[in-house]
Amino acid sequence: MNRSALIVLAALGLASCGQGEESGAAASTAPPRPAPTPAEKAALLAALPAPYDQADLDNGRRVFARCRSCHTITEGGPNMTGPNLHGVFGRQAGTLPGYNYSTAVKEAGFVWDAGRLDHWLENPRTFLKGTKMSFAGIPDPTDRRDVIAFLKVETGYTPPARP
Ligand code: HEC
Repeated sequence: MNRSALIVLAALGLASCGQGEESGAAASTAPPRPAPTPAEKAALLAALPAPYDQADLDNGRRVFARCRSCHTITEGGPNMTGPNLHGVFGRQAGTLPGYNYSTAVKEAGFVWDAGRLDHWLENPRTFLKGTKMSFAGIPDPTDRRDVIAFLKVETGYTPPARP
């Protein structure tokens, strides 16, 4: 391939970045989007609804250390004991292809959002009885706020466009 064709391809690649809504159908063919820069993360954080816009992402990262033994969060990351969490916001619970969920999560019948995740993380076993996520829960609401904001910023969540 000649040099100018390469440049055109590179430009096309760049042009397709930043259009978060495409993550669903196109994900299998499109190359992984580059991780957001610190400035982009700060902008995403500021755009989150209260109280998540006040979150401390460094604390969120520390809290997420409790999840890392079972979950990856990168795009296309492997399932471990628990499913990969990239794109979890807006995803129907229990539907990541290739992961073997419990019936409780498979039949939960909702789409993950911050409120659902907050209840789940407070106590997974009472929120969805019969889940196989053996995690005691995060009792502190500030820790839950921070880890949810951290996940929003790190797992490819894009805020709905403002009118
Ligand atoms: C000991 C391993 C383990 C730990 C620690 C753990 N999880 Fe999980 N997680 C699982 C398993 C297993 C499932 C699947 C549950 C099922 O099918 O019942 C799961 C499911 C989930 C789901 C549902 C995903 C989906 O696709 O519907 C979310 C969200 C989640 N975990 C978030 C977290 C977060 C955030 C933390 C840390 C605060 C955490 N988990 C800690 C094992 C774990």
